Amino acid sequence: MRVDIISLFPSMFKGPFEESIIKRAREKSLLEIHLHNLREFATDTHRTVDDTPFGGGAGMVMKVEPIYRVLNYIKENLKKRIKVVLLSPQGKTLNQDIAFELVKEENIILICGRYEGVDERVREYLIDEELSIGDYVLSGGEIAAMVVVDAMARLLPGAVGDERSVKEDSFSRPLLDYAQYTRPVEFMGWKVPEVLRSGNHQKIGEWRIKNMLKKTLRNRPDLLEKANLTLEEKRWLEEIKKTLNLNS
Ligand code: ADE
Repeated sequence: MRVDIISLFPSMFKGPFEESIIKRAREKSLLEIHLHNLREFATDTHRTVDDTPFGGGAGMVMKVEPIYRVLNYIKENLKKRIKVVLLSPQGKTLNQDIAFELVKEENIILICGRYEGVDERVREYLIDEELSIGDYVLSGGEIAAMVVVDAMARLLPGAVGDERSVKEDSFSRPLLDYAQYTRPVEFMGWKVPEVLRSGNHQKIGEWRIKNMLKKTLRNRPDLLEKANLTLEEKRWLEEIKKTLNLNS
């Protein structure tokens, strides 16, 4: 898959794209990343990429022409269908289902918004989708674009060493992950739960599901409604609720 990123700060991407899974995916040619500096596509000698908003108000707005020009430049070179995504706090919130959809695309362009906003004509005429990475405001779309690329890269077949870890991810089933432990069995008096060392796979499986239910109930109760729990899991959940009430 090829990802083109349009940004005013392309050097921000250097570190994150040169480590770990993204690095490996690039080395294996599973992922090709092209960075474009928006300023190079400004039309005036001052390389202006933003301007004051019509109607007044605080802050600057990113201009439509440089974005139009850089998109044309990328599209002329590629001559293929490309999905254009704007990163902004106004977008649809990224989740694992969206990451699965995005990774099906062969070519994606990510536009990193900056300043107080982007000329609305970019949304109306130039993009296919607008994505946010959560309900908070970053200083720009760059970190959000990194998040999108990371979420996609690990879904590319062959990018992650052990594919099981992708399949078993939390959100593949909408419950939070169960707790994991490794050696030593005891550290500072803190012990690994006995059942995980029992070798009894049925008991281990049961413990893990109960652990997922407990964590999800505590941190993301909203997910339980979409989780399609079996009757047995529903019963376990009720038991967990009772014990949590006793403890609180
Ligand atoms: N730009 C600023 N905040 C953002 C967010 N939460 N998601 C995506 N892009 C952004």
